Amino acid sequence: MTTTNLSEIAPDLWITEQPLRYLGFEVGRRMAVIRLADGGLLIYSPARLSSELRAALDELGDVRFVVPASELHGHLYMEQYRDAYPHVKLFAAPGLLRKRKDLRFDGLLSGVPEPEWRGELDQMAFEGWRRLNEIEFFHPKTRTLITGDLCCNFGLMTRLVAQGRMRQHLGPPTECRMLGIFRDRTAVRRSLGRILEWDFERILTGHGEIVHTGGRDAFEKDFARLLR
Ligand SMILES: [Fe+2]
Repeated sequence: MTTTNLSEIAPDLWITEQPLRYLGFEVGRRMAVIRLADGGLLIYSPARLSSELRAALDELGDVRFVVPASELHGHLYMEQYRDAYPHVKLFAAPGLLRKRKDLRFDGLLSGVPEPEWRGELDQMAFEGWRRLNEIEFFHPKTRTLITGDLCCNFGLMTRLVAQGRMRQHLGPPTECRMLGIFRDRTAVRRSLGRILEWDFERILTGHGEIVHTGGRDAFEKDFARLLR
């Protein structure tokens, strides 16, 4: 797994991955970079900003926006981007203003795209699931759903039992599933339905494998129990 190299996934869409162990498994974590029409870069769930990563980003465009997925996922290292890029705008996810008092944020993400990227990226706020107040993004140009913990693509039981031969299932990590007693099932269903309004083919998961094709069908199938 690379630690600093950016991989082009589709036009104007890159990722970089860093190692992360979870319950004994190497699941990694993924940052996404979207290049906007004016050359500005939006970074979702930033990775540690090494000099190599910085050089790679600077070749792509102008790092302008850094956004986390949630108060749990993707807010580490934001301060490194503030230091490296004085003009960068950092956005908070719900709950993060309280948690990262050390950071100065320029905005708070909601279910409505910011004017800075409206028309190029859509976004929604996932609601109703304790510990999973996440902002999901949709990049229409590449038909990509970009998530943090909502769509971890690894199943611990699947790995244990089938040694990875079965198709993995999309869903939050075990920790969220166990602790995340639904506080509002209707809101969860509404949030899932909102995501399914997007016509996505690919899913960039926060951890685990990327879903390159058939993403919307896989999403609908794996979350079917919660959609009923
Ligand atoms: Fe995560």
